[in-house]
Amino acid sequence: MTATTAPAPAPMARLTDLRPSHDDIAGDVLEGLSASPKQLPSKYFYDARGSELFEAITRQPEYYLTRVEIALLDARMDAIARAVGAHAHVVEYGSGSGRKTAQLLEGLRDPVAYTPIEIDRGTLLASTARLAEAFPQIEMLPVCADFSRPVELPRPGRATGHTLVFFPGSTLGNFDHPGAIELMRSMRATMGARGQALIGIDLDKDSATLEAAYNDAAGVTAAFTLNLLTRLNRELGSDFELDGFRHHAVYARERGRIETFLVSRHEQSVIVAGRDFRFAAGEAMLVEYSHKYTDAGLAGLAQVAGLTVVEGWNDPRDWFGLRLLQPA
Ligand code: SAH
Ligand code: AVI
Repeated sequence: MTATTAPAPAPMARLTDLRPSHDDIAGDVLEGLSASPKQLPSKYFYDARGSELFEAITRQPEYYLTRVEIALLDARMDAIARAVGAHAHVVEYGSGSGRKTAQLLEGLRDPVAYTPIEIDRGTLLASTARLAEAFPQIEMLPVCADFSRPVELPRPGRATGHTLVFFPGSTLGNFDHPGAIELMRSMRATMGARGQALIGIDLDKDSATLEAAYNDAAGVTAAFTLNLLTRLNRELGSDFELDGFRHHAVYARERGRIETFLVSRHEQSVIVAGRDFRFAAGEAMLVEYSHKYTDAGLAGLAQVAGLTVVEGWNDPRDWFGLRLLQPA
């Protein structure tokens, strides 16, 4: 009789839970509403419904970013894997559904561990469970946290080669330039002297294509933006009227970014955490930046953060790029 060995089940992922507290959210929101002009942080778009709406955005015909980046990863994975090398510990910022992660983990040479840092706990748990199933040989170390604040990362059990920070989706573009530099500095500390970062950036292009991507005909992006108010009403007890605001996204070419606003349809006041905020008719509250990059622009930001661009891959139309960075 021959003994058979059942395949080992995927190890349970150990979650490090540092998600923003009610007080963190209230503090950020009150600060933004007290500023002039008013603003709200885009990182709070991603509750369960917000993450679902983001995934729906990625399926809209106008939102080319996800499709083009997935095709680019597919087309250039051999070159990426050669440049990254073997036995990496992959640390991903804002991992979302983990679809691009699966492409990367599949393509890299024997990656040892994977640490996603994601603000939406539900999305993080679901995507880590899928990845653990697909890649049982890779240690999964999920962290629910705001990656724009200092986060102590879990240590992999096995020895790893070097750290590869993976930051796809042009999520870097959601930070203004000082914020992007600060984030890249913190990535540099995370990756260590021998580390690397693979960053996806949406490239500058004609305004019509850009504005269509943030104003899809089906209205999914508008629903995504307005969902922020629904979330605040539920979690902070505020009384934003959903019909009282409209989504407005415009490309500001001189600043190289899509600027997304919620515009007050009429004069109104809103109570948030016991405080009264007045909105004039037509007043625009900033809710998101989506920066578009040139090579010189990204290289300049990286340089200030102590990083240098060592390789780059674009899709055939130069709409979207992947850049490999390392400490300068
Ligand atoms: N990387 C995926 C998802 C991009 S959407 C892709 O390329 O398709 C942006 C993701 O980052 C969301 O899943 C959102 O929840 C997460 N996110 C946004 N701001 C964050 C922050 N400050 N800290 C941690 N995660 C954040
Ligand atoms: C996640 N981030 C890069 C998206 C973007 O394109 O700025 C979020 C988004 N906002 C509206 N549509 C998509």
